[in-house]
Amino acid sequence: MAEIIDGKAIARDLDEKTKAELDALVAAGGPRPGLAVILVGQDPASEVYVRRKIKACEKVGIRSLERRLPAETSQEELLAVIAELNADPQVHGILCQVPLPAHIDTRTVLGAIDPDKDVDGFHPVNVGRLSTGTGGIVPCTPLGVMILLETVIDDFVGKDAVVIGKSNIVGKPVAMLLLERECTVVVTHIYTENLPEVARKADIIVAAAGAPGLVKGDWVKPGAVVIDVGITRIMGEDGKEKLVGDVAFDEVQHAKAVTPVPGGVGPMTIACLLHNTVQAAKAIAAGPVQDTSDPYADAPDRSLIYGAGEGASAD
Ligand code: GUN
Repeated sequence: MAEIIDGKAIARDLDEKTKAELDALVAAGGPRPGLAVILVGQDPASEVYVRRKIKACEKVGIRSLERRLPAETSQEELLAVIAELNADPQVHGILCQVPLPAHIDTRTVLGAIDPDKDVDGFHPVNVGRLSTGTGGIVPCTPLGVMILLETVIDDFVGKDAVVIGKSNIVGKPVAMLLLERECTVVVTHIYTENLPEVARKADIIVAAAGAPGLVKGDWVKPGAVVIDVGITRIMGEDGKEKLVGDVAFDEVQHAKAVTPVPGGVGPMTIACLLHNTVQAAKAIAAGPVQDTSDPYADAPDRSLIYGAGEGASAD
């Protein structure tokens, strides 16, 4: 039987560490970390996510600030709110919930957030820092995937990893993080030929395609580790809605370890958001790095990437 990776318990552990770090920061005279969450419009799924994020802040002692704006808000008005939050010393993290209404250009808006407060890790500066291995804030779900993998893999060096899905939010950043850990990474997508054959070579599979049950039992090599990022709401045979992942969970019991859906990657995303917010507050409180001989001196500490993983190497 495959080990079931308990995302809920691992997220709880991470929350405890985050709270301890926050308490230490405040006790040392540092600022109480603050997270601003912007929601434009009334998308019901976004409402649920934002509510969860705000509630999670309370749990670890992060000051949260909710900015709800009507769906008709113009791009200029939204950019003005972001500029105000960028300048607010009590705000260390800014998250603008997507999707945004169609009249707003998401890239422009996400690119307007101060990269050092960009706790989603979506700003091009953070994407660049991640892909050059020079620190920066790592997107929450990919960071969560790495922390889950670290609970079952001691040594990543030379492992074959297959990422299914090439999104900017999950597939690409996960691939970068696996590369940082010296894995041989293949990123696959909808046009990949012989996907089952490619997947069968993997020691690590990260499924992030948003295609329920895509990864079948015979796609998985015995002893592989399977992380299921997919989460789709479908109607069950009993007429009740249920959440399903990209992996046919019951068919992959010959894997070394697998994440369930729900209860795998999902709980890690918010825990990593809280972690990122506290790391951002610490980096901002520490001020700019003085050593200018390092071309990446102004990048936040590299431990942001693996700071949550025990004993992780920065190299
Ligand atoms: N919408 C769905 N997931 C996310 C997320 O992680 N961050 C933001 N900003 N919007 C989202």
